[in-house]
Amino acid sequence: MTFEFIRTEVRGRVGWITLHRPEALNALNAAMVAEIAGALAVFGADPDIGCVVLTGADRAFAAGADIKEAAERTYPETFLEDFLASWDVIARMRKPVVAAVAGYALGGGCEVVLMCDVVIAADTARFGLPEVKIGVMPGAGGTQRLARAIGKAKAMDLCLTGRMMDAAEAERSGLVSRVVPASDLLAEAQAVAEAISAKSRINTMVIKEAVNRAFETSLSEGLLFERRTFQALFATLDQKEGMAAFVEKRQPEFRGR
Ligand code: HXC
Repeated sequence: MTFEFIRTEVRGRVGWITLHRPEALNALNAAMVAEIAGALAVFGADPDIGCVVLTGADRAFAAGADIKEAAERTYPETFLEDFLASWDVIARMRKPVVAAVAGYALGGGCEVVLMCDVVIAADTARFGLPEVKIGVMPGAGGTQRLARAIGKAKAMDLCLTGRMMDAAEAERSGLVSRVVPASDLLAEAQAVAEAISAKSRINTMVIKEAVNRAFETSLSEGLLFERRTFQALFATLDQKEGMAAFVEKRQPEFRGR
């Protein structure tokens, strides 16, 4: 795959997407988002890939949507093109996505992180939704996903002031799964993604669906979804293999079936 604004690579059973627009701190323009969508489609369809890592650079994961690209837009244009709607493709990825974040994850960059499943942050990471400082507001899910991720009081604090949180505060708040020294970030992300990829593919995909359902529905409906999904896994060969391997005291060999 050849792209202009991202780099892709397969490491073991993990598909890597590295945002690569260093001159603009990885600001996300429409072309970059389309390229991310293209790479996710390829990794999503590849049966050998169990998990995707999305990362940026040391200085910035992504410093937001491209302000220069958006500055002259009019309301009718944003409405008619449904500006930012195409970003949803990241949240719709069915395989788990690990975000590996160093440096700035601001605005749209933070919103992309919020669409990922596991978030590994370098101790240099800084998160924020500073749209309020430039006369707009989060438009790619920030007000909704941040409120669900870290609660109303913190979400209001960040959205209304536009301030940044460091990695430690982000971890305390529940935005981040783990914080590691910056030098360990990529290795840690690969280890987490490989651990996910080693599991049954069908299993990790339905677990992702079930956890995400918690943000979409009532508790009773979510519990019913979980129970039925759990029961359905007994129709898979990987359930037989996983439990047989436990009983036989050996490692399971999952086939994603
Ligand atoms: C376009 C950006 C950018 C962005 C940085 N750059 N962020 N270009 N869109 N979101 C560019 C700068 O213009 C500059 O290019 C280069 O990247 C380096 O940035 P500097 O500002 O010189 O670096 P520094 O002084 O280290 O400051 C880093 C920073 C700052 C604190 C991250 O760049 C910043 O505040 N960026 C904007 C953050 C932001 O507001 N994000 C939310 C965007 S709105 P040149 O060519 O000048 O050297 C959003 C959703 C709304 O995401 C949708 C509408 C767009």
